[in-house]
Amino acid sequence: MSDRSENRSKIDELKKMRAQSKQGGGPERVKAQHAQGRLTARERLDLLLDKGSFRELDAFVKHRTTAFGLEQQQILSDSVVTGWGTIDGRLVYVFSQDFTVFGGSLGEVHAEKVVKVMEMALKNGAPIIGLNDSGGARIQEGVVSLGGYADIFLKNTLASGVIPQISAIMGPCAGGAVYSPALTDFIFMVRNSSYMFVTGPEVVKSVTHEEVSFEDLGGASIHSAQSGVCHVVADTEADTLFLIRKLLSYLPQNNLEDAPFRPSKDNPLRREDELDSVIPDEPNKPYDIKRVIQLVVDEGAFFEIHEHFAQNIVVGFARLGGHAVGIIANQPMVLAGVLDIDASEKAARFVRFCDSFNIPLITLVDVPGFMPGTAQEHNGIIRAGAKLLYAYCEATVPKLTVVTRKAYGGAYDVMSSKHIRGDLNLAWPTAELAVMGPEGAVNIIFRKELAKSKNPEKKRAQLVAEYREQFANPYVAASRGYIDHIIRPRETRPRLINALEMLTNKRDSNPAKKHGNIPL
Ligand code: HXC
Repeated sequence: MSDRSENRSKIDELKKMRAQSKQGGGPERVKAQHAQGRLTARERLDLLLDKGSFRELDAFVKHRTTAFGLEQQQILSDSVVTGWGTIDGRLVYVFSQDFTVFGGSLGEVHAEKVVKVMEMALKNGAPIIGLNDSGGARIQEGVVSLGGYADIFLKNTLASGVIPQISAIMGPCAGGAVYSPALTDFIFMVRNSSYMFVTGPEVVKSVTHEEVSFEDLGGASIHSAQSGVCHVVADTEADTLFLIRKLLSYLPQNNLEDAPFRPSKDNPLRREDELDSVIPDEPNKPYDIKRVIQLVVDEGAFFEIHEHFAQNIVVGFARLGGHAVGIIANQPMVLAGVLDIDASEKAARFVRFCDSFNIPLITLVDVPGFMPGTAQEHNGIIRAGAKLLYAYCEATVPKLTVVTRKAYGGAYDVMSSKHIRGDLNLAWPTAELAVMGPEGAVNIIFRKELAKSKNPEKKRAQLVAEYREQFANPYVAASRGYIDHIIRPRETRPRLINALEMLTNKRDSNPAKKHGNIPL
């Protein structure tokens, strides 16, 4: 055979093997996957990444197991597809579990592939995105599979705060396998076709005698609205992948980069008259803080995180004058915007993410305080509230605060107040900064006078009016410099953009330490 024909046959063999490695578990299993309304691992990567940008790693990897006749089933690439590509031209690393191969289960080589691509992401400072669709630890490989998971957990932990880590749950995710996504920064789920639980319905039934479906135990609705495990939920796989692309547009590639700047056509000096009348005349009447956010940010675009969970606080990403920012805002429409356990934890995690990745924080404050009651106290509102306080105190990114209405009690301190290193603390003239609301305050400090009064209701109304006049305004705080400036609501956007630019070179740090001890 001539050199040329020998080369040709080698190339033909490579082509054959490449084609083989792309077949996953074969046409029948691909058909079954589609019949479930699910895409294959490679189809998902095609939707996630820029067209033609995917470069695969380890396509010729095969498992090494001989137990249970597994040596008869060698599938090139095994049950996960790994590699890199781009999203909007920016490098990302990916792994996508292939349910058509051994149910996407994770054995030794599957874990090795995932660890390898995570190491590359970490070394080269780019986000890692994992698309999860797996029956969990590969049963035939026993403890080796468990070791593989632990290797991934360790990498997740070491990468935390260094590169953004994003998980999408596209099918089952059971047992200890849930803990890799749980260690990452954001979990996306697909409604009605993905689920996560530590123990499945059968085990639940045998241990607690509860009968529960997969969906009711760990479906996207439960995790996005109740447990808070899921950060973003979408109706289809395609929507989920699209939303991951969108999220990445707000994030830097790693902790050494600044948050991305994307020039905006929206006028940075835009003033919004509607903001001047957004606060209702009655102090206890709600308004929608999301409308305020929409009016202030570039093109009204807000990428909400945890939209359905702890809705009394709103968190998410937006841009101001082209700068990516993280927004945290009390929501007066839900529980009057009170801080409870879930809201505190939701916001604390978001603040820490933004601080890890140099994303400035914008805090909109309208908070009547912490939620009272035995349920909250007994379940640890002290611990949860301390997490939020700790997260804000520790954050060194630019911190801008706007008090729109109430900033009462401990919640005033917590919500990015001047005292915990707020860089610029603004207030609308409707702001009320006080230890508590007028009614509560009057009932406590004038209890004796009210008891003695012949007309306690009239007396109470008069005292409430006096208290409101004296304390329920931003001027006392401004006279002490706790509020840097009182602005007209319509000026909020230009003021915030100007402040962000003023803080461009902000440098602040915390004392050197191994790590702090956030009250977990
Ligand atoms: C090996 C597995 C597997 C697994 C599924 N398969 N899970 N093989 N190890 N863990 C195989 C099946 O045998 C089947 O192969 C193929 O994948 C498709 O699975 P089906 O059961 O036919 O699919 P479906 O009906 O859609 O059910 C999906 C499923 C179910 C709900 C995920 O397969 C299931 O319950 N699997 C086991 C889940 C589990 O308990 N895993 C261990 C969790 S503990 P054939 O050849 O028959 O088509 C864990 C510990 C991690 O993960 C610890 C980390 C610390």
